[in-house]
Amino acid sequence: GSPEAPLFPLAGRTVTISAGGTREPLDPVRFLGNRSSGKQGVALAEAARDAGATVRLVAAHMEVPAPAGVDVVSVETALQLRDAMLSAAAGSDVVIMAAAVADFRPADVSGTKIKKRDGHADPVVSLVRNPDILHELVTVRDAGGTSQLVVGFAAETGDAHGDVLEYAAEKLKRKGCDLLVVNHVGSDKVFGQDHNSVVILSRAGSEPQSASGTKHDVAAVVIDRIGAELSRVFP
Ligand code: CTP
Ligand code: CA
Repeated sequence: GSPEAPLFPLAGRTVTISAGGTREPLDPVRFLGNRSSGKQGVALAEAARDAGATVRLVAAHMEVPAPAGVDVVSVETALQLRDAMLSAAAGSDVVIMAAAVADFRPADVSGTKIKKRDGHADPVVSLVRNPDILHELVTVRDAGGTSQLVVGFAAETGDAHGDVLEYAAEKLKRKGCDLLVVNHVGSDKVFGQDHNSVVILSRAGSEPQSASGTKHDVAAVVIDRIGAELSRVFP
């Protein structure tokens, strides 16, 4: 950074971050989950804390411990994560959705353990869509007329119909967030790994910013960028 860069660029700011993967119950002992480790969200929480912010971490299932020096709320499901994020976001200067939220949950949750029953058909799981929490956070922000910065993450693979950046640009528009941090996902990439390669897209339309390295390195770049956006938008 420049010689005049502040030591604690997020001093006085409150940053709310979701991390990990939600778990959607089928019965008291089973759930639908995903492979998110929580590492990127935890790295962001540490980087924001080290930049001087007050950090609220909404933690779905994580394979790593929550960092010291941040307020942690633990959740399981997407619906719980939504409630926790909406309340933590109130009064936050920055909201970052790094959690892997289940797009669908089982339509019915059995109150008792689902059993095999000979002579009966095997169960079929019906799914219903979970709310888009990132989109809701943007809607609430806009309705409140505050200048809160809302940041999303996206994992994209690209396919025959479009490349990673095309899909990411569409997603940024659809979500309405200020920044979208895009991971290029291959079969062996991102989930549970310590290295990461991302592009940061902005709604304001500035040049895509690339970053790669450990999830810690990526988090530092994202938090730096957030600091720059904050001092530009509401110093
Ligand atoms: N997200 C969210 N609520 C959901 C799903 C996703 O808030 N129900 C957030 C994620 O935390 C992430 C961003 O939205 O910050 C993008 O997630 P992604 O899964 O890439 O987007 P989706 O809208 O679910 O699109 P897709 O169909 O490609 O999975
Ligand atoms: Ca999704």
